[in-house]
Amino acid sequence: MEVLELKPNFYYVGVVDHSLKLFDVAVLTNDGTSYNSYLLKTPEGAILFEGCRREYEEEYFRHIEEIVPLKDIKYLVVTHSEPDHSGSIGKLIDLNPELTILASPACLKNLDAITRKPFKRKVMNPLAPLSFGGYTLEAVSGLMLHWPDVMFTYIKELKVLVSCDAFGAHFASDALLLSKEPDKERYYAALRYYFVSIMGPFAKFVTAACERVKKLDIDMICVGHGPIIDTNVQDQIHRYEELAKEFTPVNDPNFVTIVYASAYGYTREIAHSLETKFQHDGKKAALYEIDALNYGSLKDKILNDIAHSGTLLLGSPTMVGDAVCLFYDLLSHVYTTVGQGKKASAFGDYGWSGEAVKNLSERLSQLHFNVIPGYRQVFKSDKASEEELQKYYETLK
Ligand SMILES: Cc1cc2nc3c(=O)[nH]c(=O)nc-3n(C[C@H](O)[C@H](O)[C@H](O)COP(=O)(O)O)c2cc1C
Repeated sequence: MEVLELKPNFYYVGVVDHSLKLFDVAVLTNDGTSYNSYLLKTPEGAILFEGCRREYEEEYFRHIEEIVPLKDIKYLVVTHSEPDHSGSIGKLIDLNPELTILASPACLKNLDAITRKPFKRKVMNPLAPLSFGGYTLEAVSGLMLHWPDVMFTYIKELKVLVSCDAFGAHFASDALLLSKEPDKERYYAALRYYFVSIMGPFAKFVTAACERVKKLDIDMICVGHGPIIDTNVQDQIHRYEELAKEFTPVNDPNFVTIVYASAYGYTREIAHSLETKFQHDGKKAALYEIDALNYGSLKDKILNDIAHSGTLLLGSPTMVGDAVCLFYDLLSHVYTTVGQGKKASAFGDYGWSGEAVKNLSERLSQLHFNVIPGYRQVFKSDKASEEELQKYYETLK
């Protein structure tokens, strides 16, 4: 399907790509994706919502021109300036230098740096709706979903919310409409994966945005990727809220996550001793020993426990001047939004130089944990090190 009239004078003019396998370097797109854009024809001229990825601009322009000549576009509304939605805007400005871009201040700033061209502009302000061609465009903040520039648009007369990445999924659907998508189960799996990969770190912002969106009378969400949500809109918003709840970190002061590795058992002894001390004090401790064989299957469970505990302890022996590499992979999935407000510390055994504790502590600081100075031990424990460990434990309580 090339273009589709979604509502009277309101058209889908985006591009569907079934072949895409990878997005943003690390996100798998087994179901392809689409770069959605929309066109509203009014008696005063056309309003285009969203740009397109640069590689697809010819198809995008062709779809628009099936409805109106490019020169008839009066406004381009840009919800979010990531290049998959803005890469084509430089060319569009060349083809229609008279169009005015409507966006948040942060988005306009990004577009200056992405297009490197002068363009007419107007700031989208949630307190000042814009009336044009018989329609009212209301700006609704979508802050941090998933960039600081996001500003949704509510087209009041159409009961449409244009939301870009929020509520979207990498899912190439020829049906274009969720109501007509035959494989909803697969779509919902893609929606969840998209949420985890893209929106997960910003879960609490999702909750805030859903609160704003729920107040609007909406019967269609025009997303930036995947099928347009034209059915059970409130249920879809609720589904998004539930995902946000699941991925919002909780700092439970009575829950400690201890993750350690150990080649010869010394770091294991420290980890078990700490676990016993916490349990003795009535705290719940989740203890994980990781290695190259079990790490893949434990990772998601560990990350979930980290998100829900008040304290994180990482125990690594020093190996070749550093911590065991698995810890760096693990921490690459822990976002600063998770670290905020949680206590964390590193411990570990070593032979001669003992860099693991210092290096892990630095990484934990970068992730905004409240880092408590770590504990190191040379080979086997003795009475003195047991006393040191007890003192260390006191600082963790
Ligand atoms: C491959 C390998 C490399 C090591 N490199 C270092 C090192 O760079 N610095 C250091 O202090 N200890 C090093 N060690 C010594 C270990 O840190 C030490 O054996 C420690 O007690 C291991 O603790 P574990 O029993 O918990 O594995 C190395 C050990 C191994 C097996």
